[in-house]
Amino acid sequence: ASAQIGVTGLAVMGRNLARNFARNGYTVAVHNRTAAKARALVDEFGDEGEFVLAETAEDFVAALERPRRLVVMVKAGEPTDAVIKEFAPLLEPGDMIVDGGNAHFADTRRRERELREQGIHFVGTGVSGGEEGALNGPSIMPGGSKESYDALGPMLEKISAKAADGSPCTAHIGPDGAGHFVKMVHNGIEYADMQLIAEAYQLLREVAGYSPAEIADIFRTWNTGRLDSYLIEITAEVLAHVDAATGEPFVDVVQDQAEQKGTGRWTVQIALDLGVPVSGIAEAVFARSLSGHKDLRDASRGLAGPKAEPLAKEEAAAFADQVEQALYASKIVSYTQGFHEIAAGSDEYGWDIDLGQVSAIWRGGCIIRAAFLDRIRAAYDARADLPSLLADDGFAREIGEAQDDWRAVLVAATRQGVPAPGFAAALAYYDALRADRLPAALTQGQRDYFGAHTYRRTDREGSFHTLWGGDRSEVSA
Ligand code: 6PG
Repeated sequence: ASAQIGVTGLAVMGRNLARNFARNGYTVAVHNRTAAKARALVDEFGDEGEFVLAETAEDFVAALERPRRLVVMVKAGEPTDAVIKEFAPLLEPGDMIVDGGNAHFADTRRRERELREQGIHFVGTGVSGGEEGALNGPSIMPGGSKESYDALGPMLEKISAKAADGSPCTAHIGPDGAGHFVKMVHNGIEYADMQLIAEAYQLLREVAGYSPAEIADIFRTWNTGRLDSYLIEITAEVLAHVDAATGEPFVDVVQDQAEQKGTGRWTVQIALDLGVPVSGIAEAVFARSLSGHKDLRDASRGLAGPKAEPLAKEEAAAFADQVEQALYASKIVSYTQGFHEIAAGSDEYGWDIDLGQVSAIWRGGCIIRAAFLDRIRAAYDARADLPSLLADDGFAREIGEAQDDWRAVLVAATRQGVPAPGFAAALAYYDALRADRLPAALTQGQRDYFGAHTYRRTDREGSFHTLWGGDRSEVSA
């Protein structure tokens, strides 16, 4: 046994993660269901570090130092259970199975419980950063036992991305499914960020009248300021790209139907279960879903509405500045909602997740990495029990300063008939939180009227019901 870590499942993420471990000086056992893939890896990249080629499951387990660290990089779902079934009988108490796929945290909780009975640590781990991140430094979100982190953490810290201040973009998130839960919300936020950027693009194109190349330049400028982030950076690249076959902007030759693999949807499903309003993230998921309904869209093209009239050149530049404000304000809201969901999940499952630490390890490596996350970290550093990001003085001030422009952008979008569901949902969330009174009081009255569901009063303790079908007197319920 000579390998400090093993990776099974050598599709591109697994292969790159294995190479990353090897490049950092670890001896890595590599295994794949079809052994040819493992052989190919060693043939092609063997000079990057020390690999141990394992042709069979038994060879793989035998190659690992104890306690064994076995990283599983297969497609989330059934394949993960199949791999566990194959390897668990070969392992011994104290060994670790690290699942680096995009697993649902409920599956991770189940697997952790089952393997714990056998004394095996199951470490459900979020890994973000795509292929490039896996190779050069991802953001890593491990759950599982504290003990497993002691044995695994230093290696993860070594291969992870580093934030600008040099600190590793990984930390122990919390027990059992905490890591995969945090990765799930990361992806929900990723969906929201992408949707907000897409709305900004659409408004700059249809309301301001800019070309994709001009919008690429605008995004490049934004990327030097407070919106500095990986997603803004790659958006400029995509928008500037010209299709070789047609000479048209690339963005104009791609079908406008967004796909999804499920993690954004889970974020919303779980938020519904936890009772957390993640309206901005939900709109991002629904926007992808709507885009995919080709028949519905074809059948609706004749519906009445204004035709967007591009602004005059002088007005366009001012509008672009307003869109930057709307994008930034909406981004604050989607992160507020995402962190609320993590806090709620942490309470529900007893994970004790450190929100400041989560924002710190998202500063590098992951898809949503951004200068902005340093701000969030600072907000939680200043006050660990911050009830909401909007309760931070800095964010409250910035969103307050942005709100006039944010509203103006939505007025223009509405008047010109350009959908901006993410911006709108974010503003509605902001205004609802600010409101002295919400129409929820009326909702309670309606519920009491048709179903005697009772209500509470503003002036007295207790639950009450009005005899709506009778003399409308009030009784204690
Ligand atoms: C990451 C990404 C990644 C995710 C893709 C695809 O953090 O590296 O979130 O894990 O799988 O972005 O997601 P969709 O296919 O659902 O857009």
